[in-house]
Amino acid sequence: MDTLPPHPPIADAKGPSLSREGRGEALDRLADFPAIPAGWAYLDTAATAQKPRPVIDAIARGYAETYATVHRGVYQRSADMTLAFEAARRRTASFIGARAPEEIVFVRGATEAINLVAQSWGGTFLRPGDRIMLSVLEHHSNIVPWQMIADRTGAVIDVAPLTHDGRIDLDAMAAMLTERHRIVALAHVSNALGSVLDARRAADLAHAAGALLLLDGCQAVPRMPVDVTALGCDFYVFSAHKLYGPTGIGVLWGRGDLLDAMPPMHGGGAMIDKVTFEKTTFAPPPARFEAGTPHVVGVLGLAAAIDYVEGIGLGAIAAHEGALVRETRSALSGLNSVRLFGPDDAAGIVSFAVEGVHPHDVGTILDESRVAIRAGHHCAQPLMAHLGVDATARASFGVYNGPQDIAALIAGIERVRRIFG
Ligand SMILES: Cc1ncc(COP(=O)(O)O)c(C=O)c1O
Repeated sequence: MDTLPPHPPIADAKGPSLSREGRGEALDRLADFPAIPAGWAYLDTAATAQKPRPVIDAIARGYAETYATVHRGVYQRSADMTLAFEAARRRTASFIGARAPEEIVFVRGATEAINLVAQSWGGTFLRPGDRIMLSVLEHHSNIVPWQMIADRTGAVIDVAPLTHDGRIDLDAMAAMLTERHRIVALAHVSNALGSVLDARRAADLAHAAGALLLLDGCQAVPRMPVDVTALGCDFYVFSAHKLYGPTGIGVLWGRGDLLDAMPPMHGGGAMIDKVTFEKTTFAPPPARFEAGTPHVVGVLGLAAAIDYVEGIGLGAIAAHEGALVRETRSALSGLNSVRLFGPDDAAGIVSFAVEGVHPHDVGTILDESRVAIRAGHHCAQPLMAHLGVDATARASFGVYNGPQDIAALIAGIERVRRIFG
């Protein structure tokens, strides 16, 4: 693989931003994405983002040039890889405003991160009659782990309602919160509607009731600047693959004192202090939560993805996607048989339905026009029930999308309407 350039150093702190903060012009990054052929409108970034060349190169170099295990090897290659791995942890910490790299736990993805908090924190601290606050729009990943731990501990789940335009209704939630609530777990950005939570207010409300706040940041981290310290949350989770990084790697951020008090979820190598058959003691966080050989190259890919989005500027990405959402919603609202879901200021995601046509048919016909959208329940069946549908069609944007994709989407939907009369 001598055609690949050497590993770029992983920056420890936020580098100078090339950002065009606040401006909504086309980012024009399509050329960075080799898996998007000309003429294909990829509008399924909320499911998973395409990968830019620097991320692909970082992964290729990780396997082809610098590969070794971490934290164990006594040889130089492994020591170097350990340095790169831990530099990526620092990079991730600075990316989301964590106070210390030890607060960053590498996991397989957001799903595993929420399960970890539910099993480890919830299994230790929840008592019968304690309450967990979720919302109607949560992804199944932020519902099912809580149901599982509620069943185990005797805790009870409450569900905050939505406003008419599809935001979590924080006024209603405030009225529902009691001193029995121990944790509030909410999507920072809804994967189905794109609605953005007022996370700072959610943190204040949770804390006023004596509860913690976990934010599911899967759809927020690729779309807007996130600073967990400024938001005031207690746990924050996201998956690298939605941030232009690889699958199989994600992040749990937890406040240091909370992680310190939590037992491990998995036992095995790398998470121990000392093992005997009589008694085993555990390493401090984050190692306590990272049993087994980690996804070494995935972590390098995550760091490259962070470098990539910060090179563009999260403010510029937010402005770009905001403009695409506004344009799409305005074009769709001009079609009289289309129903729009979610708020006008949604982040990067537009859910809709074409009257009389199942979303799966919408998706299939759009695919014939080389437009890739998601159709289904978006792992948010309670939200679908709330909306009175069993599925929606969803277009979601990334840095590679531009007005040409919206034009292709609208032309495709007009074709759907012609086919279905
Ligand atoms: C809001 C939200 N939460 C959680 C998840 C689960 O992420 P993963 O499947 O990467 O663990 C997703 C993915 O669709 C999501 O959009």
